[in-house]
Order: sequence, then structure tokens, then C-alpha cells
Amino acid sequence: MCGIIGRVGDGNALEPLLTGLENLEYRGYDSAGVAVQNGSGINVQKRSGKVEELKESIGEPLKGEVGIGHTRWSTHGPPTDANAHPHTDESEDVAVVHNGIIENYVELRERLAASGYEFTSDTDTEVIPHLIQYYLDAGFDSETAFRRAIDELEGSYAVTAMVTGEHVLYAARQGSPLVVGMEDGEYFLASDVPAFLEYTDSVVYLEDGDVVVVDEDGVEFTDLEGNPIVRTSETVEWDPEQAGKGEYDHFMLKEINEQPTSLAQAIEGRIDPVNGRIALSDFEPGTFDDVDSVQFVACGTSYHAALYGSLALNQAGVHSTALLANEYSVSAPPVDENTLVIAVTQSGETADTLSALKQAAAEGARTLTVTNVVGSTAARAADDTLFIRAGPEIGVAATKTFSSQAVMLTLLGQRIADDVQGEPPADLETLLPELESMPSTIDQLLEYSNAASIAEQYSESRSYFFIGRGLGFPVALEGALKFKEITYEHAEGFASGELKHGPLALVTPETPVFAIFTGQEDEKTLKNAEEAQTRGAPVVAVCPDGHPAVEVADEHLTIPDTDSDLAGLVANVQLQLVSYYAADLLGRPIDKPRNLAKSVTVE
Ligand code: F6R
Repeated sequence: MCGIIGRVGDGNALEPLLTGLENLEYRGYDSAGVAVQNGSGINVQKRSGKVEELKESIGEPLKGEVGIGHTRWSTHGPPTDANAHPHTDESEDVAVVHNGIIENYVELRERLAASGYEFTSDTDTEVIPHLIQYYLDAGFDSETAFRRAIDELEGSYAVTAMVTGEHVLYAARQGSPLVVGMEDGEYFLASDVPAFLEYTDSVVYLEDGDVVVVDEDGVEFTDLEGNPIVRTSETVEWDPEQAGKGEYDHFMLKEINEQPTSLAQAIEGRIDPVNGRIALSDFEPGTFDDVDSVQFVACGTSYHAALYGSLALNQAGVHSTALLANEYSVSAPPVDENTLVIAVTQSGETADTLSALKQAAAEGARTLTVTNVVGSTAARAADDTLFIRAGPEIGVAATKTFSSQAVMLTLLGQRIADDVQGEPPADLETLLPELESMPSTIDQLLEYSNAASIAEQYSESRSYFFIGRGLGFPVALEGALKFKEITYEHAEGFASGELKHGPLALVTPETPVFAIFTGQEDEKTLKNAEEAQTRGAPVVAVCPDGHPAVEVADEHLTIPDTDSDLAGLVANVQLQLVSYYAADLLGRPIDKPRNLAKSVTVE
């Protein structure tokens, strides 16, 4: 996945373009580039490496009021200077930035090369400026040349282009996100809102098939043929500070600490205080009456939240499974109109998850998306949507969106079970007050967490294991994923009971085992932890003070007492902090781990 930005307005475009690229860098940071248009043509500066390196190499500022920029996560071709965007035609008359995949690029490239157009990169994107140039050479005006070029593309794209000598940007969206930002006399195009939030909070989310023409007088919204279409603007509620790092060294630490707020936002107004049921007024009464089974589809951290939601739903008496979205096309269980398929995706743009969602809908299932991003593709593709309201998450490693997803799936599960069974699930009465106090429970934990010293104590270890049972199992998986993702150290998560079925062979004094206690058969988890301890592994118990595990374990990460449906989520915050501090000790680039990107728009 990549991030794109475009800007038209008064004054020099370079600063807003570079600010936009910095704000989009979570989408990819292999290479970056800008192209700015001035009286003497299009000036392109691009290179492999981070936006910071691009900024340093620009030297003399590029002058011009119109420009485009790009930050890349490579899909076609390694991260080299030549493969960085913007891409141009040979004479640099057309410059293009693109996010997505052009599936028919080989055939287009062969055709254009045969007509004498020379290619200098390995990317699929480079066909676009050549194709636009091809139509310009054939005598079409720029707008028509752009539309004709777009019409030839197969695959997914958000494209922004400019043609030399014009104060205009052309853009099109098909399957990859593109938003327009609008301020008096200044207009932006970008992959995501934080790109231009410092300049405007008035946005229009483009739909697939939209083509826009932007100049200093405004934005023209059309379909591919040029017919006008109506798109309404919305005011974004996030402010630039929310999207900035504030007093923290890393976005990840900021986002971990934001969890009391993000959870309060998630549950606000969604629990009915009058009769103690889950109102979840996002859905009409009886919405889920006809549901007889639920399938969750998701990837990575969102899959762990989905597994959490699925286990909770099974416990509430409704049949459900959590499936990896990238396996769905080969192993999906059958669906019918009474199957509810829930896509869980913080970005709403993950290609694997979108593809599973589309498949489920095509096979006749009802669909629902749980996401953080209003206007995202997944939000629009499903029959229903539930927003987790976590606010912007910039750190590539998901933290606050995981807890908001899991809490919203717990709420949603209770509501589905209530609709399906005609009465609230038995344990709702005890769960509700604990759900309402989740923000203060986590606040309390953040005050006294000893995660930094535990991270330091075990910083020389060879491998890290995480075990949990029931709702502690997805948390063990998530604890391990977060740890490996940002520390680059080996970590694995297991169901506690599985340890003795093989992984125990790996256990040594150099493999600390983090054991998560959620109040579900804790005595068995404790036994499993002791089995590792007997073989020399230090055990870190994640549990409340006074829990029997405290006596047995070598170390203890304290969590406040809460309902067993939520204890795993509270424990997860301690594990997020352990990962963070361990990665910090190792000097890792915590917010931008190598080879990763915030949302993965390729399958
Ligand atoms: C890990 C992480 C990824 C994402 C996964 C799905 O910290 O963030 O594993 O969870 O790529 O992304 P979304 O939720 O955007 O579908």
C-alpha cells in the first residue's frame, strides 16, 4: 500500500505536500517523492528511503502552486530511486502518483513500448503517465487523455495526475481510497484524511468510479464519462493534535495511552442505561433476529479481535467462527441468508478482508463491517457498519484499535445473542457495569504498569512465549504478534493447553513465558505455566494482585480485577507496553517496523 497526496492553491505547494507525506508515511516508507508544477514545467524529486531523507535531499525548495506526492510500500519492483513515484513520461510532461495494483500493466506496457514509449522503472504505475501521454500525442485535451487512460486500467487504483503548464489535478478512484480536502482556494487529494488535516477538516470521500478535476476554483465531481455527480462534504471530527505525537516519543505509546479515551468513545451511548440491555442503536430493534450463525473475517491483529468476538459470541450461545480473510477464498464454510459475515478491519481497506467480504455477499450472506474509518471501502461494501470510533491510529502496530474492536465485538455479540435468543445473555448483568468502567480500569493500569522493568529484565532472552485459555488465547496470539512485529525478536502465542503438545520442546531458561489469566479455568493455565517453569522457563503471570498465580510465577504484571469477558483485554494493555519498552531498548523504529505497512491493499 502507498500514500498519495495532491495540492492546488495559492503559495508554494511543497510544504503541504511534504507535511502530507509525513502524515501518510504509516502507509508505506520504502521511498518517497514529489512533483511540483511551475512556469517552466514539472519538477520531480524522488528517492528510496523515508520522507525525512527526501526532505533533506531536496535542498533548494521546489517552487510551484500545484503538486503531487507519494510515499511507497513496494509491490512491483524493489524500493529504488527509479521505482519511487511520481512517475512521468519521457519528457516529464505528465506526472502521476498511484496507490493500488494495475493488473493489466504488462499488456499495456508491451503495447506502449511497441509504439516507442520508453520505460525506466519496474513498476505497474509507469504505464499511466505513458498512457496519458499517448492520448495527448493523439491530439486529445488533457482531461480527455486522463479519462481515456483511466478507462484502460484494470485492477485497483487511486490515481492523481498533472500535465505540464496546467494548474489542474486529475484524479480517479477504483478500489483504493481517495479523499478530497477543501478549504477556500486550497484543495487536496489524499489517500487518507490525516494527510491534510492541518489545512482543512472539510472532506469528501470519493466512491469507486469517481473522477475529479481540481483547480484553484474548486472541484468538479464526475463519473468516468464526465457526467456530473453529487458528492457531499463532511466535517472530520479528529483534530490535527489527535493525529500528532504530542508529548510522546512514539505514536505507539501515545495510542496505548489513549485507550481510556478511545474505549469511552466506543461505548458512549451504546449501552442502554434504562433496562440494562445493549441498545447499540446503530441497529434497528430485531436486526439480528434471523441470524443463525456468524462468521468473522479479518487479518492480523484484527483477526485476533475477531477471534475474541467469536469466542465471546459462542459463549453467549450463538454459533460463530473466526476465519482468516486470506484463507476465505479456499476454505470458506457455506453461507446462506441467515449467515452474518462480519468483516473486522481497522483501516477498512485491507484487500484480503475486502475480498472475503465480497465473496460472502456474492454467495448470499448478510454482511457487516466493524471498522475505524468512516468512508472506507469496507464500510461502504457491507450491508451494515459499526464504527469503533478509536480516532486516528498512526503507529503501524495496531493498539487502541484492537481494544476498541474487541470491546465493540463484545457489545455486538451480546446484542446479536439478545436478538437471536429473545432475551439478554445470562451474564450481561455483571458484564455491563464492568464494560462501562473499562476506560477507568485501563487508566488505573496505565498509572502503575511495571511493564518497562519486565521488558528490561528479559531483554536478553532468545524467544518469548505467550499463553492463554478461552478469551486469553486471542490475547496470547496478539501479545506475540505485537512483540515480534516491533522488536524483531521471535515470539509465539499458544493456547495454554497446547504448550504440552509440542512447543514445550522449545522451552529453556532463555524463553520467558507470559501467562494470561482471565478467570476462565485459570487453575489449568497455571498448571501449564508450571510445566514450562519446571523446564527452566521464567514465568510472568498477567493477573490481578492476590491471584494464586502470583505465588507461583517468577514475575507478575498486575491487572485490575474485572469481568472474565474483559480481563484479557486489560491484560493486553500490559503486553502492549512490554512490547513497546522491549523494542525501545533495542532501538527499533517502533512506529514504522521494517517491511510492514499500516494497511495492506494487496492480496
Ligand atoms: C498488526 C497490524 C496488522 C493489521 C492487519 C489488518 O499490528 O496492525 O496485523 O491488523 O494488517 O489490518 P486492518 O485491521 O486494517 O484490516
